[in-house]
Amino acid sequence: MSFAFQSCINYGAPLDIPVITIDGPTASGKGTVAQRVAKTLGFHLLDSGALYRLVALAAMQNHIPLEDEVGVAALAANLPCRFSNMRVFLSNEDVTNLIRTEEVGNASSHVAALPAVRKALVDRQLRFQQPPGLVADGRDMGTVIFPDAAVKIFLTASVDARADRRYKQLMEKGISANIDVLRRDLADRDARDEQRAASPLKPAEGAFLLDTSNITADEAVALVLQQYRAQYHK
Ligand code: DC
Repeated sequence: MSFAFQSCINYGAPLDIPVITIDGPTASGKGTVAQRVAKTLGFHLLDSGALYRLVALAAMQNHIPLEDEVGVAALAANLPCRFSNMRVFLSNEDVTNLIRTEEVGNASSHVAALPAVRKALVDRQLRFQQPPGLVADGRDMGTVIFPDAAVKIFLTASVDARADRRYKQLMEKGISANIDVLRRDLADRDARDEQRAASPLKPAEGAFLLDTSNITADEAVALVLQQYRAQYHK
């Protein structure tokens, strides 16, 4: 797969390049689905959640309070991150696993609620729209960042299904977890993402709603590809 994410520095973005937006709540499976769709189509991938996680981690490492909007936005505007061979680096430190911890995930939903932080990340995200196409995964990809995307997906799953998936993922990585705590954290994070004033999580107008509670990742990927092909090969 080719990743537009290989560097945080990207160049001009012609607008006739197809974009598939995949938005949805935490642990809905959209990361997996977005990666597989991008791989199948040979498209670039924007994992916008990773950017918010990197900002949160940078704030924690630099002892900047998560509610210090000006301080965190300044970090976001000059985030020294790099993406290479599926690894994520912050100031040359490999933080691929660190940004996936629950602690950083929770912190990221706080910094993501700050309008100045969101604004600081807009241009960086737009520049991922590079040929031959982009799959953009996040919360506001279809509503705010790529409102003209031809294919918009809103992918969701019940809190129970998502907590189960997150639990299994953490176990596979050897990270201990408590399913009840995970379920509560997911519900809290959903509430923060949905209720914030700045770019709240909601389906974009015209988005295809895909509930993955009872389908496999392969089935979800096939449905997204079907939407894309219906749009581009009419
Ligand atoms: O998808 P994720 O769990 O890696 O996202 C981490 C946090 O960032 C999550 O709380 C929601 C937030 N986020 C956002 O507000 N907007 C995006 N486009 C992507 C993620």
